[in-house]
Order: sequence, then C-alpha cells, then structure tokens
Amino acid sequence: MNGGEETLVAADAAELAILAAELMARAIAAAIEARGVARIALSGGGTPSEAYRRLAALSLPWAQTEWFWVDERAVAPDHPRSNHGAARRDLAAARIPEDRFFRMEGEAADLAGAASRYEALLRARFGVASAVAFDLMTLGIGDDAHTASLFPGTGAVGIADRLVAAIPAQPDKGLEARLTLTAPVIREARVKLLLARGASKRAVVEQAKRPGPADEVPARAVRGGAGRLVWLLDAAAAQAG
Ligand code: 6PG
Repeated sequence: MNGGEETLVAADAAELAILAAELMARAIAAAIEARGVARIALSGGGTPSEAYRRLAALSLPWAQTEWFWVDERAVAPDHPRSNHGAARRDLAAARIPEDRFFRMEGEAADLAGAASRYEALLRARFGVASAVAFDLMTLGIGDDAHTASLFPGTGAVGIADRLVAAIPAQPDKGLEARLTLTAPVIREARVKLLLARGASKRAVVEQAKRPGPADEVPARAVRGGAGRLVWLLDAAAAQAG
C-alpha cells in the first residue's frame, strides 16, 4: 500500500515552521491516540530548527513520545554540529523526560559498531517481531539532493540489508563521517515530512519528485512506502515559485 504524497507551499520560512510544527503535533497526537506512543525520528540541518522550537511550545502528552534520530554527524553530543544536541536545545521548552530520547552515538570510535547498536535499540523499542515504522519522520534535502546522510554517487541509498549505516567522511566537501537510517526505514515511516526552504532547493526538489536513479538523487528514495509523504516547501523552494 502506498500512503500517497502531497505538497504544501508556505509563503515564507516563518509559515513553513508554523505548518511543520502543526503537522508534527497532529502526527504525534494521532499515533498516541492509536497506539499509546509516538515514535519520532528527527533530521538535523538548519531548516527544521524553528519548527522544533514551535512544536516544543505546544501542549502534548510528551511522556508518551519517543525521540530518535534520522542521522547524526560523527561528533560528540555537545558539539555544535551534533544533530542530537541541536534538536535537544530546540525541544527544551517541552521538558520531555530524559529517558524518552534515544540518540545515535556519533562520538563512537567504531561507527559501524554504533550503527549496529542503534539498529538493536530500534528493534528492541519497536518490538523484535514488528517492522520499524516511525510514526513521524522529519527529512531534509541538501543542495546535492542528499537526504538523511544518504549522499549521491556513494551507493548509500541502495543499502537495504541494515536499518542503520555508518557513512564514511567526505573530506573534499568538509563533511565528517555520519550515521544514518537507511532508505527502507525512511520509506516506511507513517508520516514523512520533508522540509525544504530557499531557492537553492528548487531544482533538487523538482528532481526528487521525478522518477529516476536514486543514487543520483537520493531524496527520491523517500517516495513510496505505506506512509504519507508531505513535501513542505517555502515559496522559494517550490517549483511554481
Ligand atoms: C543533516 C541532515 C541532512 C539535512 C539536509 C538539509 O544532518 O545535515 O539530517 O540530511 O536534512 O542536509 O539541511 P538544511 O535543512 O540545513 O538545508
């Protein structure tokens, strides 16, 4: 079954954050209503930050939420580039209990080991016999069309034998190594909220919505699956402008 997809266009970055927070809150409330818990996987990057802050200002049954990460940079949690650290700061106002957060070990010397441990953690939290289907996942898209830490031309988007993968550093781009959920896990999230802001994203969003090789445009891999995909763009990132 395919949960379908839709595109919402916000007038500007502020409206994008308001809409994103509202969609996140709805997905969280619906999951808690249906299953008693909402499992959320967060992306990093600059775009979702304000949405996370706005979400944290809302009143939700936070004790029934569980927070995971879509990807993480190979840095310690208190490093300015840590996705976990950034999201925790953005969500601080919600006062979510500490034991509701499940971070990737970006600081691990053995990233492949950290990926295996995160996979085991996911299997344990979701139940070994169940599929790892997040209730809500936020995603972004890079100017090079990467999503999560699945970068173009690396084959990473084709990894299908694991839930979590270690991604080598790209020194030519100044990027550290990463940990990332793999495409099959991303695809199966119940609500996928892909946020893109700014004119530099317009071409890649357009490419990602067209079928073609996912290794060239990894964001194509978010499409399909049982869940619902929402492209939430600001006017500058939307094709129609
Ligand atoms: C990260 C991400 C990454 C991000 C895109 C878009 O760790 O950087 O999770 O996949 O979503 O790079 O980032 P921006 O929101 O900063 O454009």
